[in-house]
Amino acid sequence: MSLPSPRVIESDAGRIEIRPARPSDARGWIDLLVEVSREDRYILLESVNTTRRELGRIFRFGAWSDQTAAVVAVAAGKVIGQLTTTRNRNIYAHTAEIGMSVQSAYRGKGVGAGLIEGARDWSRVFGVEKLVLNVVPQNARAIRFYEKMGFIPEGHRSRHAKLSYGYEDLIEMSMWVDTQDGA
Ligand SMILES: CC(C)(COP(=O)(O)OP(=O)(O)OC[C@H]1O[C@@H](n2cnc3c(N)ncnc32)[C@H](O)[C@@H]1OP(=O)(O)O)[C@@H](O)C(=O)NCCC(=O)NCCS
Repeated sequence: MSLPSPRVIESDAGRIEIRPARPSDARGWIDLLVEVSREDRYILLESVNTTRRELGRIFRFGAWSDQTAAVVAVAAGKVIGQLTTTRNRNIYAHTAEIGMSVQSAYRGKGVGAGLIEGARDWSRVFGVEKLVLNVVPQNARAIRFYEKMGFIPEGHRSRHAKLSYGYEDLIEMSMWVDTQDGA
């Protein structure tokens, strides 16, 4: 499957390219996750458990496959945004989970929206009909962003995440994608 061409955002912070991740993005991807995970606990990322080498291998073969996508936003050669999709299995294979983050200095410039468009492109190519995510109820800015993107809340999961400090409730949100199969 050939990779899609990059999307470009011309922002006040310069040119931002959104495209499937390459092995050379592995270091920047990890640095971004570490930085964002330190911002606040509602981001639900306590530690980054992958090495640059492992991630590079994943990006070589799995950045745009029928099971997963890894999409980056790159500005001045630096990874400033990332999104992953993970397709569910069996009777849930028409759905995929997403996770994403944008570096604080680049928020509010359309990067998050561009990454979601990348996830929608991937869904259409591989016949995924529904994108799903979980967000902590206290992460109001992310919930507003997802609603703006077309996600709707579907349910409230009680104490569904268990972190080092205790449990968190989660809101499940979803968006149907207009697939080629006409879902
Ligand atoms: C949530 C996040 C991904 C949004 O990314 P972003 O690049 O700032 O979003 P965009 O600039 O593309 O915004 C797209 C739209 O959402 C709106 N939006 C973004 N953040 C918003 C906020 N805090 N409040 C209200 N609306 C918001 C924008 O106004 C924009 O709407 P418009 O098209 O009408 O102008 C980013 O804030 C982030 O990475 N946060 C930290 C990590 C995190 O919480 N991840 C989610 C864990 S579940």
